[in-house]
Amino acid sequence: MLREASSPVSGERLSRELRISRVSIWKQIQTLIKLGYEIRTSTRGYNLLDNDDLLLPWEFPGAEHLVHYHTSTDSTMKRAGEHSVKGCPEGTLIIAGAQTEGRGRLNRIWDSGEGGLYFSLLLRPTVPPSYGFLYVCAASIALIETTASLFNIAARIKWPNDILIEDKKIAGILYEISGCGHRISSLILGIGVNLNNRLPDNLDAARSLSMLTGRRISRRIFLTHFLLRFNRLKQDTINGTTLSLYKRYCSTLSRYVMVIPFNGELKRGHAIDITPHGDLLIKEDDGTISHAFFGECIPSQRKHR
Ligand code: BTN
Repeated sequence: MLREASSPVSGERLSRELRISRVSIWKQIQTLIKLGYEIRTSTRGYNLLDNDDLLLPWEFPGAEHLVHYHTSTDSTMKRAGEHSVKGCPEGTLIIAGAQTEGRGRLNRIWDSGEGGLYFSLLLRPTVPPSYGFLYVCAASIALIETTASLFNIAARIKWPNDILIEDKKIAGILYEISGCGHRISSLILGIGVNLNNRLPDNLDAARSLSMLTGRRISRRIFLTHFLLRFNRLKQDTINGTTLSLYKRYCSTLSRYVMVIPFNGELKRGHAIDITPHGDLLIKEDDGTISHAFFGECIPSQRKHR
């Protein structure tokens, strides 16, 4: 009722139409305010101010049953893991307003202050674990397309799963697979987007989209656009289109790179291709083609000849 009204709605009218006492109305209004809704109270009644940033389940019509929102949690990856074990369905979405133990790739910390978008998405694809990377591809493409459609900014992918704008990181993707043998039982995608959050002063390699666009960005609008695109792209993961789009948006290809593996042999050479399983193919200076499986990739300005 408050959302549909263009002028304040009196407590008396709310009480009559909802068939609850005015004291209960007042209590419910206080609960909504605590949840983050801006409601102005005057002698004429209650007035709900526009807020397109809230991430509560009922703000995602049709998917309310899949959405779990935490004002703050340690890591949405942990919460999603718990939901996975409980047997929650494909599409279960855990969102946090802030994280106290946000995790990044390679055991790094993901700085997760208020204003950023942090979520984990539970998937149950019926493909072997070796196809898991294609879902990271679909998520990367969805992030790039969302940034393009909302802000007209062309972001690029740095292999394997960093989203950059002008070489500064605006988003990162983490994925965890569990299953046995040839079957994935769950794939959890964890995505962090620097939207309006303040980044640590010593983190020069990252930027927030609000810094780049000069305006505050609605987390809900960004997430809704992302989900729309991701849900479409995930249907096509294994037919080759996802990987080719990923490669088109990937700025690592054709560059001279150095990959510092998590534990293993350092590789250096021209990045020439990416396999469906996510390996970066590197042509080393002596002509050997080798696979870089994971690790930190540092591209240089030198272009592929
Ligand atoms: C990276 O290192 O680039 C990946 C960062 C992934 C961060 C997201 S934020 C939501 C989810 N919860 C976490 O603890 N990490 C992921």
